[in-house]
Amino acid sequence: MNSASTTAPLSLDDLHVSFGGNRVLEGVNIDFVPGFNGLIGPNGAGKTTIFNVLSGYVKATRGGAFLDGKDLSDLKPTDRVSNGISRTFQSPKLILDATVLENVLLGMHRKFRHGHVTELFRLPNQRREEDQAREVCIDMLEEFGLAEDAHKETGDLSLGSQKIVEVCRALVAEPKVLLLDEPAAGLGANDVTILLKGLRKFVQEKNLCLVIIEHDLELVTALCPIIYVLHFGRIISEGSAEAITTDPAVIEAYLGKGYAQDNEKDQGDSSAI
Ligand SMILES: Nc1ncnc2c1ncn2[C@@H]1O[C@H](COP(=O)(O)OP(=O)(O)O)[C@@H](O)[C@H]1O
Ligand SMILES: [Mg+2]
Repeated sequence: MNSASTTAPLSLDDLHVSFGGNRVLEGVNIDFVPGFNGLIGPNGAGKTTIFNVLSGYVKATRGGAFLDGKDLSDLKPTDRVSNGISRTFQSPKLILDATVLENVLLGMHRKFRHGHVTELFRLPNQRREEDQAREVCIDMLEEFGLAEDAHKETGDLSLGSQKIVEVCRALVAEPKVLLLDEPAAGLGANDVTILLKGLRKFVQEKNLCLVIIEHDLELVTALCPIIYVLHFGRIISEGSAEAITTDPAVIEAYLGKGYAQDNEKDQGDSSAI
């Protein structure tokens, strides 16, 4: 575990997960701190499984996860969101024939007394709440350059924009912890710039604890002061971008031998990030 003096809002303690005989996570210990935390590693390493444990879709075989010191193991996925854990998925999970605004409104679900957003449109006493919620969602879309698309059908947006809509939906829930699973995959350079600008703002203003799984190493190293490297279900390295990218174990398992030389040549060319 890292020894940051800040209380870690989110911790993994000796986390083990097996699917049948397949041991996917084996004794993962991480204290995720406020700010950007990077989680990288080869395909199949177990990164998404960590998110699935944190959001309650997968049960730990041993060990567990803690939010502000509270054991999460008995909480259902919806209760995790109420407790401040929001996430996005590797492939966005949105209702494609609903509008962008309706999808983002779903992120405010826990704030409503009535469960379904559609009900809000029928109940007069919910009118004010609905107007306020719409305003919050439009403001969020504005932050990420998508306000003009609010009334479009979500399926008509590019994959990149859909991924940003999912980030907006996660953020309107006002999470303490935001888990982003490969948010930049499939995004153009312009979308990445908009996404990062918005995320930086929330991390700074709300002291958000953001965990980002991402294969774009340039992005992760530019963004995250601390990065965890997962390989075959174990953390093989953790620390600053420099520490992990020069760690022989990481070069061997993930980056490849050519990385160190290429990286030296390319340094200084990260203006988009
Ligand atoms: N629900 C599941 N049932 C069985 N095996 C799973 C399940 N989820 C993930 N796995 C397996 O766990 C391993 C890690 O998967 P995953 O966490 O998705 O890796 P990553 O996100 O690092 O690419 C893979 O071998 C995958 O096939
Ligand atoms: Mg994954």
